[in-house]
Amino acid sequence: MSFFTGEQMIFFVDDDAALREANVQTLDLANLAVEAFPDAASVLPRIDAAFPGIIVTDIRMPGMDGLELRAAIHAIDPGIPVILITGHADVAMAVRALHDGAFDFLAKPFASDHLVGVARRALAHRALILDNRRLTAAAAAIDSPLIGESAAMLRLRETITQLAQADFDVLIEGETGTGKELVAHMLHRQSRRSAASLVAVNCAALPHDVAEAELFGSDQIDRATGKLGQAGRVRAAHRGTLFLDEIDTMHPAVQAKLLRVIEEREVQPVGAAAPEPVDLRVVAATKTDLMDAVRAGTFREDLYYRLHVVKLRIPPLRERRSDIPQTFAYFLDEAAAKMGLQGFQIDDGVRRHLVEHDWPGNVRELRNFAYSVVLDLPSDPGLSAMPGEASLSERLRRFEATIIHDTLTQTQGNIAETMARLGIPRKTLYDKMQRHRIDPKIFRT
Ligand SMILES: Nc1ncnc2c1ncn2[C@@H]1O[C@H](COP(=O)(O)OP(=O)(O)OP(=O)(O)O)[C@@H](O)[C@H]1O
Ligand SMILES: [Mg+2]
Repeated sequence: MSFFTGEQMIFFVDDDAALREANVQTLDLANLAVEAFPDAASVLPRIDAAFPGIIVTDIRMPGMDGLELRAAIHAIDPGIPVILITGHADVAMAVRALHDGAFDFLAKPFASDHLVGVARRALAHRALILDNRRLTAAAAAIDSPLIGESAAMLRLRETITQLAQADFDVLIEGETGTGKELVAHMLHRQSRRSAASLVAVNCAALPHDVAEAELFGSDQIDRATGKLGQAGRVRAAHRGTLFLDEIDTMHPAVQAKLLRVIEEREVQPVGAAAPEPVDLRVVAATKTDLMDAVRAGTFREDLYYRLHVVKLRIPPLRERRSDIPQTFAYFLDEAAAKMGLQGFQIDDGVRRHLVEHDWPGNVRELRNFAYSVVLDLPSDPGLSAMPGEASLSERLRRFEATIIHDTLTQTQGNIAETMARLGIPRKTLYDKMQRHRIDPKIFRT
């Protein structure tokens, strides 16, 4: 699954053609995607708040200079890193620019390694900002109720309420789309910590080289700016909840430091002389069995046992099929309400098809399907009847084919990986591929 979509990109701005080409080549050789611009006016229209990359710009340019460009970009999105290139004598000006919010500066002449290093750091920073925004947006959307009246869901809801008040660390296990993030937020909201923040970290989106400072903070003073380092997500979660999503992907070096946070309830920021106490609850989530990662040597056993004390397993939809019609109806109504429609009925045939489908993407898939059905309905408000059994089963079939197709594309035709991601056994996958006439070989490159 991708957390950070959109190609990361460096926009390099310099009016000096020779320097521009040399630096673009340097970045290109370092495998960084880069695009060159001769002036501020040509780059600005290309920037919006979703821009996934960074800007490197010369300060002295005809027309709008680098400092003005920095300000204009930050008026669009203050979270876009801007790196300034200064002449030898301009260092004082550069320091002022840093103070105003530039990410870093490069004083001419600079080594190509230095340019690449600063650019990489800025790109990682940008990726984290966007990832954090995504998580925050997801958190805002996540006050939806947990749906399901099956025995498993009743038990789950009850356990969440008990655990929320007990303040234990919790490990949430569940396939993709089963509601791990939703449950993490419920645990937080129902706890005595709800007045403080839930700080979400997607471990899979955290590049290893910045993970330590990002999580545990840094007290190092930046030699160039004189600015103190960052607080880190652990300290940001003080008195609240730290939600570590995709914990199985956490780098071993980071795992060691996390263990200390969990065992001692203290954090030692990078460069700090002594640890400081933190008061938080750790909620971790994983799609895979963490024990497999322990056996494979990628996950610390001691951390595993610490996290495993209280485990919440969220069952996939196919293990609680009786919840499918109700959940579908809920999302159907939700989607319809957003479009000003109402009064959908599901007939028995449709119900049977829904219940028989395996829903490898679980609730997320069911939700997407409900929305796609509503979006495809004729827009006549008098006609709020559901499509009949035949057309719905045909849609389900197409929907399933699309998911298998997409997963095979992502895994480049790797069957084992496709089985794992979809959570279905080999035979089922082969049956489905045959039924949909999908040939896995064509996805292999
Ligand atoms: N039991 C449920 N009732 C209502 N909505 C649910 C339920 N489970 C999941 N959802 C919804 O399904 C979507 C996916 O849930 P969520 O993001 O929590 O899944 P996840 O387990 O974190 O998946 P992934 O591992 O892919 O990140 C969200 O829109 C969420 O609100
Ligand atoms: Mg999730």
